[in-house]
Amino acid sequence: MGLTQEEVAQRSALSVRTISDIERGHTRRPRPRSLQLLAAALNLNQTEVAHLLELARNTNRGDFYPDVGLDVAAGRVLPRQIPMAPRHFAGRDRELRALSAQLDDDPRSVALTVICGPPGVGKTALAVYWAHQVSDRFPDGQLYVDLGGGQDRSAALSPAEAIARFLEAFNVPAARIPAGLDARAALYRSLLAGKKVLIVLDGAGDAEQVLPLLPGSAGCLVVVTSRNGLIGLVASHGARPISLDVLSPDDAREFLATLLGHHRVVAEEAAVAELIERCERSPLALSTVAAYAIMSPSLPLAALLLPEFEVPTQAIRHPARPSLTGPNRILRTTPRCVGGDH
Ligand SMILES: Nc1ncnc2c1ncn2[C@@H]1O[C@H](COP(=O)(O)OP(=O)(O)O)[C@@H](O)[C@H]1O
Ligand SMILES: [Mg+2]
Repeated sequence: MGLTQEEVAQRSALSVRTISDIERGHTRRPRPRSLQLLAAALNLNQTEVAHLLELARNTNRGDFYPDVGLDVAAGRVLPRQIPMAPRHFAGRDRELRALSAQLDDDPRSVALTVICGPPGVGKTALAVYWAHQVSDRFPDGQLYVDLGGGQDRSAALSPAEAIARFLEAFNVPAARIPAGLDARAALYRSLLAGKKVLIVLDGAGDAEQVLPLLPGSAGCLVVVTSRNGLIGLVASHGARPISLDVLSPDDAREFLATLLGHHRVVAEEAAVAELIERCERSPLALSTVAAYAIMSPSLPLAALLLPEFEVPTQAIRHPARPSLTGPNRILRTTPRCVGGDH
């Protein structure tokens, strides 16, 4: 329809602020009267009005697409790309608090955090779990990309490709995506300007892979995970570092208890303590062992300590190592199925 917010305000006798709030999805339940005025100002036909009212009735913040009042026919999808978080998330209270502290950061700058730590320690799990918790603070969308910047650099996603995916997520037609990285990044920044979008850049190899993906203006929040410190981002862009270590002994035990059931852990405290020790409190190692115990509910946990079930701590903590052969092969190579290789 091509009207500016000011023009719509003039036509509808609503304030620019009201229209802007409805358009950006900041008004959870727009008043029916406001919607009627808006519909009249936009000359919507009956079907469009019914659609608009229906959306407003059913809406929670995320379902009410920001543009809907001004472009009913667009049929757009708001990006909500954060993948599933672990069902039983354990510990990390301090890190979750540190991440949430950014929500109160200076609203004039882009909040940027780097979660770093060795493979399998739980960087992705932390970023994804927290992102779900705060997603309603980012009504304009939540973006996620796996940058694949682990040990095998040939598998890394180029920044240009990552931006193309984000632009597509915001409904930019492929034909309108510029070929060069600079032009792509400029379009991406233009699109994010003034929006509140959460961006998770998972498994970054180095700062160069991340820099073009940073928004230019305030309102967005970026969480990067990397096995490297990405010290450059801390130095040049004031990124907050969160260095992730293995779980505390208490959190490791609680994690197993949640996965296996308290009764099973209480019944075999000594075996549990030994398993935790052998897993070096790595979430990846612990969840792998737990998976075996869950698959065999009648198996005593102590059996997992026997040589034929030897917990492959090294292999699990360094999942990029080549597969091993021999009696422990299945356990030793399981991490690839469980995830967490960057
Ligand atoms: N705090 C946690 N609570 C529950 N499961 C976790 C936790 N941290 C990691 N995991 C699990 O451990 C495995 C490895 O974690 P991941 O986040 O992929 O590690 P990284 O990204 O550091 O390589 C995944 O299966 C993940 O679900
Ligand atoms: Mg990861």
